[in-house]
Amino acid sequence: MVAWSALPAALLVLIALRVHLQFATAETPSNASVAVVHTVITTECLQFYEWQVIGLAYSWRRAGQPGPLTRLLSCTTENLQGYRATDAVATVVVPNLRYNIALDDNYGPYNRPGALVTWLQVAQPEEPYVLILDADILFRKALTPMSLGAEPGWPVAPFSADLRNVDAKLAERHISKVPQRNNTLAGPRMRRADLVGGFIMVHKDDLAQLAPMWLQSTAVLRMDPEAALLAGETSGRAGQRAIAAEAIGYTFGAAAAGLQHRADFGSIAMPANLLAGDPAVLHYPKWWQAGESSFWFWKMWYARFDAFACPPWDLARPHPRSGLVARPPPLSTLSSRGYYRQRDLLSLEPAVRLNAALCERHRRFCPASAQLVRECTKAERMEAALDEELEALEAELARTPCEDTHELCKEWAKAGECVQNPGFMRYGGNPSAVSLRRPQRRVSGDCPAAFRVLGFLSLAAILDVTVWLGAVLLGALVAWQHLRPALAKRRIESRP
Ligand SMILES: *[C@@H]1O[C@H](CO)[C@@H](O)[C@H](O)[C@H]1NC(C)=O
Ligand SMILES: *[C@@H]1O[C@H](CO)[C@@H](O)[C@H](O)[C@H]1NC(C)=O
Repeated sequence: MVAWSALPAALLVLIALRVHLQFATAETPSNASVAVVHTVITTECLQFYEWQVIGLAYSWRRAGQPGPLTRLLSCTTENLQGYRATDAVATVVVPNLRYNIALDDNYGPYNRPGALVTWLQVAQPEEPYVLILDADILFRKALTPMSLGAEPGWPVAPFSADLRNVDAKLAERHISKVPQRNNTLAGPRMRRADLVGGFIMVHKDDLAQLAPMWLQSTAVLRMDPEAALLAGETSGRAGQRAIAAEAIGYTFGAAAAGLQHRADFGSIAMPANLLAGDPAVLHYPKWWQAGESSFWFWKMWYARFDAFACPPWDLARPHPRSGLVARPPPLSTLSSRGYYRQRDLLSLEPAVRLNAALCERHRRFCPASAQLVRECTKAERMEAALDEELEALEAELARTPCEDTHELCKEWAKAGECVQNPGFMRYGGNPSAVSLRRPQRRVSGDCPAAFRVLGFLSLAAILDVTVWLGAVLLGALVAWQHLRPALAKRRIESRP
């Protein structure tokens, strides 16, 4: 009986704990004055990047990416004379390292690790994580360390099949001291370097250690006369400097810094893997065209595009020099359905998004004119129609159940094919042969799915259930104690 009378007190304690937890949780957003991630773009002092940055900044804001956005602008003093940089994003000017005097090497990508090295010295970011992007990226959804599974010591970057060749002889030549990795988290077993590239979500302490090694590795690879050939560059001849030295330098630098990656599958879409479903970002370094759509977008057509010019614009040119990029065909011209329609809509998205971003700017800075209003109204309507269709389509596809569409799917996944051949594993390689359903395999067998499920069992949820059970028990007990004398009395009364 003593135990039962302690029940109300125990309940009170549990409720107090739950209330405390509620407030402790509620405090987190107010403490979130320091966001978890700082997004950084690296560009050179070239007008070519300004329209890209306007597009990226616009999409970053619309996607609700948390934390600040900073552009690192690598300029020589000479470049900076009269240079017009967009005010769409906070910009930090850093030295231009394109020309490496000591090595007599002219290579723009030195600026990527180089700008980060300088930035970490001059501006200590408060946010624990840094997301590193090229300018030719457009956000569709937020990318956070939590959504990607990044942790200290474990950066996350997209799986890059392009690097498949670098892990044999080239890694042996440059990072033979790095222990081999016997997992398939970011490449085949027994690799030394992870096959990743595209964007990088990394803890700032790891980045501080990594960035100088990345720069160093890049320079060493540029000087290795065998690198281009060993990396499998098609134009590679002995003695030619590797074009991909910076991308390889990143993975070798990270390996030498003792960092391992969890490769990301599906957050980034490039034309080459445009089947990848519902990406968070679009990357357009190359030709952008997909599926049924006959529309092509190539950033090099806009190498001299002036993002700041007000009307009149010559939009009759195939590739305009100012105003807007070439307008994609109306969505109604696409006849595809399901996954294929999603892919085809994504193939129009870079141009649609860039034009909406440019129009936002034109409307703010240019005097109203008939051309501006007419062209920008069209561009904004197209963006709204695209977003609406994609949202409906994504919701529909998300409801479509997953399934293995090949009897050997599980066997192949176990053999590491999700990492070796992600495109094939997800979509069967031949888009016209696979079903329209969302494929089941999204990550390799090493993904600790069990941990994610456990994540749902929060302390708050456990307390809630306990408090409810306790309250029900207490109610029953009180009712029983009131009813018992009455029942006993009735039993006595009903005796003959
Ligand atoms: C608030 O944020 C800072 C910086 O991320 C962190 O160190 C600190 O522990 C946080 N405080 C609370 C009460 O969560
Ligand atoms: C790598 O891991 C696989 C599977 O766990 C195992 O069979 C193999 O022996 C390991 N190889 C080495 C060299 O550790």
